[in-house]
Formats: sequence, C-alpha cells, structure tokens
Amino acid sequence: MQTQILSANDAGLSLSSLILQRGGLVAFPTETVYGLGADARNDKAVAAIFAAKGRPSFNPLIVHVQSLPAATEFADFSPLAFKLAQAFWPGPLSLVLPLLKGGQLSHLVSAGMPSVAIRIPAHPVAQGLLQVFGGPIAAPSANPSGQISPTTPGHVTAGLKDRIDAILDGGLCSVGVESTILGVSDDDVTLLRPGGISVEQIAKVIGFTPTLTTNETTPNSPGQLLSHYAPKADIVLNVTDPEPEMMSLGFGNAIAHPTLNLSPKGDLTEAAANLFAHLHALDAMANAGQCIAVAPIPMTGLGLAINDRLTRAAAPRDGQ
Ligand code: TXA
Ligand code: MG
Repeated sequence: MQTQILSANDAGLSLSSLILQRGGLVAFPTETVYGLGADARNDKAVAAIFAAKGRPSFNPLIVHVQSLPAATEFADFSPLAFKLAQAFWPGPLSLVLPLLKGGQLSHLVSAGMPSVAIRIPAHPVAQGLLQVFGGPIAAPSANPSGQISPTTPGHVTAGLKDRIDAILDGGLCSVGVESTILGVSDDDVTLLRPGGISVEQIAKVIGFTPTLTTNETTPNSPGQLLSHYAPKADIVLNVTDPEPEMMSLGFGNAIAHPTLNLSPKGDLTEAAANLFAHLHALDAMANAGQCIAVAPIPMTGLGLAINDRLTRAAAPRDGQ
C-alpha cells in the first residue's frame, strides 16, 4: 500500500476517520510521540498494528479516548484513578485500570489481560481525530518494534512507509517522550513507565510517591523490555569526555562541543522534547561501528523518563 500524508485540516481528519472506520491504520500526532492508530473495537485492525510494527507478540496497547465519560465505558475508575485523570487529562499520562466486562474493546488491545491502559491526549490534532472518529483509538508509538519512537511525520515515514494507510501531519511533538504509565488500584499507584508527567507532579496530587516497578515485576510491559528504543549505533551513557571518533549528545555544558545538544541551557523539558529527534539524527549520521556518547542527565523531573529511554537504547540487543 502507498502511505498518504494528510494535512491536519478538516478534510485530513475526515479522511483519517474514514480509514479508521474501514479498519485501516493512521499515524497521528500526540503531544508525546506519534501514535499508530486503529479502531480499538476492530480485531483485524488492531492485529494490523502488530503486523505493521513487526511486534513480536500481542503486547497490550494504549486506548486513546476523547473524554472521561468515554473512558468509563471500558475501565473501572477508583476514586484515586479519577483524581489522577482529573489532574492530568488531557495530557501525557496513561492509566492502567481494571477492564470492564462486556465493553466493546478488541481483546487484542489488552492482550487478554484483565486491565486496560487508557489516555486522553492533549494534542489538538489527536483530539480532533478522536472527535471526528467518535470512538476509541488503540495506538502504540508509530515506529517499527524495538526502534526509536517518532516525534515528526518524517520519523514515521522512515520507519513505516507503505506499511500503513496514512500519516496525519501535526508537525513536531512538544513533549517528546511517551506518556507516564501508572497502574492504579483502590489505594495504590505503581509507576509502570516514567514519562511526560514527572513522579514529583504525581506525588503532589496523590500525596505519596508511586511505587517503581522493575522488569521482573512487570514482564507484560514491552515498554519495560530492556533493549527498546534502540538506534542502530551503539550508545554509551554518562560520558563527559568522549573519544574523538565518537559522536556525542550533550546536556548543558557537560560535554564540550557535542555533535548535538539535548538542551544547551540544561533544561529537562527541552531535553525530553529533543531526545528522540536527536537520536534519530545521530543514528542517521553514524558511520558503521561509530558510537554515540551521551552526557549525564539528572534524575529529577523528566530526567527519570529521559534516563529510562537512554538506558534501554544503550542496552545489549539480543542479536537484533
Ligand atoms: O505516549 C504514549 O504513551 C504513546 C502515544 C502514542 O500515546 N504510546 C505508546 O504506546 O508509547 P506503546 O505501545 O509504545 O507503549 C505502551 C506501553 C507498553 O509498554 C505496554 O506494555 C503498556 O503500555 N501497557 C499497555 N496496556 C497495559 C496493561 N494493561 N498493563 C500493563 N502495561 C500495559
Ligand atoms: Mg513504543
């Protein structure tokens, strides 16, 4: 198939909605990264997401909805979950909640698990698409499995061209790292993936710091697989003095004259927004065998999500 690039105007949104209704795949911008969307109620369409991404197994997907009432059709919200939804939606937060029985979601979306991940994205184009489509959209990040998430339409094209029906062009994603994923029960909150909303922001709303999970405790979260977000070039972390033959990714003034800098002024929000775009760019520049040295990034605020993605990008790749 030939992938169409659609402008994010009324015509583009209508055509995207029509493609989704017919079971097709449309990549669309969210404030975090581009998502690869399909009708979350259509088994065949959801299965096509896995095929297009080359995802090795049917891992669960995030369901994007337009409103809180739409979310309550599929998921059971405890008072704690409501509090988080009210504080951070629309925005870069996904909540993993008990799946309501008898809902219309494809079983593939939740990979047969009794829970479902839900999010209301803030990006106006994502909101527009959800409104015109009028139903839930399942969407993982719009990249081939295991590769870096896309923050521009060009990144989506580079990874998935001619494997999906269309890309809605919404320019650059402002947050740049994926949503924070929280598992929420009646009285506890676990951090399944650090992301665009910081742990500090969450603690302010719920009054405690969410428990951090590890690979061992959440084998079902592919975002938790160690080698993920992997560029082709090798990555070394916490480098302040790279070898001359290396390319480098700076933060603040930690590395003198880096090839690219996540944020020359040392701002973590700016660094998150640039992270995947800079990794894509360095990867494209790298010669065979050349590696990318990355400056140390502080572990506060969005630094947790940035370090999480960098650690996975630097992890050994099981022969991939
Ligand atoms: O910002 C984002 O979250 C982007 C945009 C497009 O919304 N989406 C995204 O999706 O990053 P994806 O598929 O790349 O990552 C979703 C993560 C996976 O690690 C998956 O395992 C986890 O969410 N997940 C989904 N449903 C889950 C569930 N029921 N229980 C535990 N983890 C779940
Ligand atoms: Mg992903």
